[in-house]
Amino acid sequence: MKFAFFDTKPYDRQSFEAIAQNSGIRFKYYETKLNEDTVDLAHGCDGVCVFVNDTVNAAVIDRLCEMGVSMIALRCAGFNNVDVRYAFGKIHVFRVPAYSPYAVAEHAMAMLLTSIRRIHKAYIRTRDFNFSLNNMTGFDLHGKTVGIIGTGKIGRVFIDICRGFGMKVLAYDKFPAKDLDNGDTIRYVELDELFACSDIISLHCPLTEETYHIINEETIAQCRRGVVLINTSRGALVDAEALLAAIKSRHVGAACLDVYEEESDFFFEDFSGHILEDDILARLISMPNVIVTSHQAFLTNEALANIAETTIDNILRFSQTGQCPNEICYRGGVTEDCRSGKCF
Ligand code: NAI
Repeated sequence: MKFAFFDTKPYDRQSFEAIAQNSGIRFKYYETKLNEDTVDLAHGCDGVCVFVNDTVNAAVIDRLCEMGVSMIALRCAGFNNVDVRYAFGKIHVFRVPAYSPYAVAEHAMAMLLTSIRRIHKAYIRTRDFNFSLNNMTGFDLHGKTVGIIGTGKIGRVFIDICRGFGMKVLAYDKFPAKDLDNGDTIRYVELDELFACSDIISLHCPLTEETYHIINEETIAQCRRGVVLINTSRGALVDAEALLAAIKSRHVGAACLDVYEEESDFFFEDFSGHILEDDILARLISMPNVIVTSHQAFLTNEALANIAETTIDNILRFSQTGQCPNEICYRGGVTEDCRSGKCF
């Protein structure tokens, strides 16, 4: 089997080649992202392997089908970049539902601690032999309230980490877990209460029509002055313009962003030496209380190995049995993983 592998980075190639040997799958690696202009690179392939910033819209799906490409293997969990409704019945789409919730949750805490204890500033100061502590005062996490939106795999690991720091948890989820709320240190609440009572808010829900810009001018106004926002989920959960305004007005105390709404134009690439065309991103990065990492939260050895293993397993299972539990189905307005394997 032959797969066109888009948006390849050296670490992807390394982890996939380590596992693909003897699998019968040959990956043809392309650095370019998949979109309408590059889709023809998949000519002669059985499938494509894509990541978070590849474009899998109707035009791309149509062209893949015309070329006889029958599989889209996502090497990520989120699938907001795939028109799953359009793909249904035309092409098979698999994903990697979990590869390391620890990687993302630990990165969220790393960003939070860096931000509130000014580690990013201290690192630069001491390299310059500046040992002054002026303007470095942080605050304890112990006893603070963290609001978690989305209590799935990553959200729950982040809750465990926060509880380890002695924080209280206010949680919101469209589908609350039955075993999480203990009526004391971890409580499910409505979003209004979460916004009004949290010192720190961390986003761990998927990007959907409902969650698009869940952090916006109105919801930020409901938050405590000085709130710290963490987004390791998807950029478009946050209205970046509203966030920038709230940072300028000092209403938001700090922001830790691993994702950004327009990240596909910039993230994963080296733009040093170039003029950054996105004024909002440039302004956010210029703020002393904003930390931006470029969709890095997943990037651990363990996660990369799990991604390669599950992606290859998805492809092999489907080609051998015609079924794959990680196939994404869109049935009657509901998107879900295909448990029956009889989608079409
Ligand atoms: P999950 O599917 O285990 O959990 C998502 C949770 O969000 C579920 O409990 C679900 O009920 C909840 N949810 C769905 N709609 C909601 C709504 N409208 N309001 C509130 N909650 C809602 O997913 P997991 O593995 O925890 O991942 C969470 C997100 O993290 C993914 O959707 C993805 O966007 C992001 N992610 C980011 C990575 C990075 O490198 N920065 C890597 C992996 C995932």
